[in-house]
Amino acid sequence: MLWSRSLAICCICLFLFSTHTFAFYLPGVAPHDYKKGEEVEVYVNSLTPLMGSQQLKSLIPYDYYYKPFHFCSPKEPQSQPESLGSILFGDRIFDSVYKLSMLQNNATCQYLCSETVPGEDAAFINARIKENYAINWLIDGLPAASRKLDVKAKTLFNSIGFELGDSMASFSNPPLHNHYDIEIQYHKQEGQDKYRVVGVIVIPSSNKYDSEEDAKTCGPTSERLVLKEDSDNTVHYTYKVIWTPSNIAWATRWDNYLHTFDPRIHWFSLVNSIVIVLFLTGMVAMILLRALHKDISRYNQLEAQEDVQEDFGWKLVHGDIFRAPANIMLLSVLLGNGSQLFCMTTVTLSGYISARIYKMFGGDAWKKNVFLTAFLFPTIIFSIFILLNFFLVSAKSSAAVPATTLLAIIGLWFLISVPLCCIGSLFGFKKPRIDHPVRTNQIPRQIPDQVFYLRPIPSMLMGGVLPFGAIFIELYFIMNSIWGSKVYYLFGFAALVFVILTITCSEVTILLCYFHLCAEDYHWSWRAFLTSGASGFYIFVYSIMYFMTRLQINSLTSAVIYFGWSAVISLMFAVLTGTIGYLACLAFIRKIFMSIKVD
Ligand SMILES: *[C@@H]1O[C@H](CO)[C@@H](O)[C@H](O)[C@H]1NC(C)=O
Repeated sequence: MLWSRSLAICCICLFLFSTHTFAFYLPGVAPHDYKKGEEVEVYVNSLTPLMGSQQLKSLIPYDYYYKPFHFCSPKEPQSQPESLGSILFGDRIFDSVYKLSMLQNNATCQYLCSETVPGEDAAFINARIKENYAINWLIDGLPAASRKLDVKAKTLFNSIGFELGDSMASFSNPPLHNHYDIEIQYHKQEGQDKYRVVGVIVIPSSNKYDSEEDAKTCGPTSERLVLKEDSDNTVHYTYKVIWTPSNIAWATRWDNYLHTFDPRIHWFSLVNSIVIVLFLTGMVAMILLRALHKDISRYNQLEAQEDVQEDFGWKLVHGDIFRAPANIMLLSVLLGNGSQLFCMTTVTLSGYISARIYKMFGGDAWKKNVFLTAFLFPTIIFSIFILLNFFLVSAKSSAAVPATTLLAIIGLWFLISVPLCCIGSLFGFKKPRIDHPVRTNQIPRQIPDQVFYLRPIPSMLMGGVLPFGAIFIELYFIMNSIWGSKVYYLFGFAALVFVILTITCSEVTILLCYFHLCAEDYHWSWRAFLTSGASGFYIFVYSIMYFMTRLQINSLTSAVIYFGWSAVISLMFAVLTGTIGYLACLAFIRKIFMSIKVD
C-alpha cells in the first residue's frame, strides 16, 4: 500500500509519519520464545550520528562493515532482507560474529578478535567518534540502547544506539570503545522453560589491552584505548553478556524506548494550534457571515428594486471571477498532485482532480495534462533524490540507495502509479465540465490599484504564516525524529495537528480571498493556491533555522543532503497546503456567486 502511488507519496509518508528508526523494527511481530541455550542472533546496522544533548554534527550513515572501521567481521557478511523503505533510509542490516546463547556464559569475558588499524583509518575513526557516531545493533528485533537519564523527570530511559567512542573525553584524540557489556533483559514465561528478550542495553568501554592474553580478562585496564593517527594500532575487541531477569512483559518492551521528555510541550503545541484555529474561525464567521450576508441581501434587493444604483464590492467582478487564470496546466497538475498527497488512499485521485480542474477552465490539451500530472511533480522529487544519492555515493555512505532499488522504484512508478493516474484522468475528462455559476465577460475588467497588504507577495506571506504557526511546535519534534534518530510515535498528535492545518489553510485562504474580491481583484486562482502554499516557504525558512541552531554540520555532503530533503519536504508541503487552500476557495467562490442574481 505504501508503494502504491509514487515516490513522492512514499517520501512524505516515511518522512512525516515515521522515523529513521521506526521503519525497520516494526513492533507487532510475533514474540520469539527462546529455550535455554538457544542462540540469540545479533544483527548489525549502519552507524549513525547521535544528537543527544549536543548538536547533531553529521547526517551520513556508514555501513557497519565499511573497511576503515575494522570491526570484527564474518568472512562474508550476509545482508538481511529489508523493506524498500528501510533501504531508502540508509539501513543496512548484516549478521555478526557475536555469539549469544540464552542464559549461557553469564557475565563471563569473551574475546572476539584483534584488528590492525592503520594510521589513516584511525584518523577516520577518530573523526567519527568526535562527530558522536553510534553503533546500532538489533537483537531479537530490539535496537541495542544505552541507558540515559531524563534529568527533569528523574527517570531512566533507553536511547537507541551506543557510542562508538567517548567523544566527551578531554584527550587530543578520543578513546575508542572496544569492550561491550551487553545486558539482555529476559522475561521468563510463567511456569515454562521459555524466555523472551525484553530489553537490550549495551554499556561500552575503552580498554588498552597489552596483549591478547590481557584482553581475555576484559579489563578494566588502567589506560583507555586511543588510536594513534601516525602508526598502526592493534585493537582487541571483547564483550560480556549479562542476562538479567526482568518483569517487563514482551508486549510492553518498547515502552522504555518511547520516551517523551516533556509531554506537556505537545499539549502546549496543541493548545497553540487550537487558539489559532478558534481565532481564525471567529474572524471568518464574523466577517463572512455578517458582511457577506449583508452584501448578498443588498445586492439582491437592488436587483428587485430595479434601482440604477451602482454595484459595489465583490459583485463587480462577477463577469471575471471565472476567467481562466494564467498557466491552468501547471495549476491543475499541482492541484492533482496535492490532492493525491492529501488523500493517499485513492490511487487514481491525482489524475481525476487535475482533469476536472483543467476542463473546468476550458483546457483542451488533455493528453499533455495526463502526462504532466503523472510525471511533472514526481520527476522533480525524483531528480532531487537522485542528486542527493549522488552525493551520498561520493561520501561512501551506506545511505546511498543501490541501483537495483532505484530500478525497483522506477518500475513500481511506471507499472502502478502511471496507469492509475491515467485511469483517473480518463474518468475526470469524461465527466461533464463543471459549470460556473456566473458567465465570464468577453473583455477583462480593469483591476484597480491595490493597497500594499493586498498585493500578491505581502498577502501570501501573511496567509502562509498562520498554517505554519499552527504546526511549528509539533514540527520541531518531527524534525528531531527525522534527523536525530529519535523515535516519533505521537501519531495521535500529528493527526490532530494535520486536521487543524487543513482547517487553518481553508479559512485563511477564504478570508484573504474575500478581501481581494472586495478590492475588485479577481485573479484568485493562483493567489488561493499560493496563499496557503506559502507555509511551505516558512517550513523551509524554519529548516534553515533548525540547521543553524540544532545541527553543527561542517561537511558539504551533509549540508547538501539536509537542504535537499528540506527542499523536498517544503515543496510537498506547499503543494499539499496550496491544494487545500485552492479547493476551499473554489467552493467558497462558487457558493457566494451562486447566491446572487446577475442579469
Ligand atoms: C548474571 O549475573 C548477574 C550479575 O553479574 C546477575 O545479576 C544475574 O542474575 C545473572 N543471571 C543469571 C541468569 O544467572
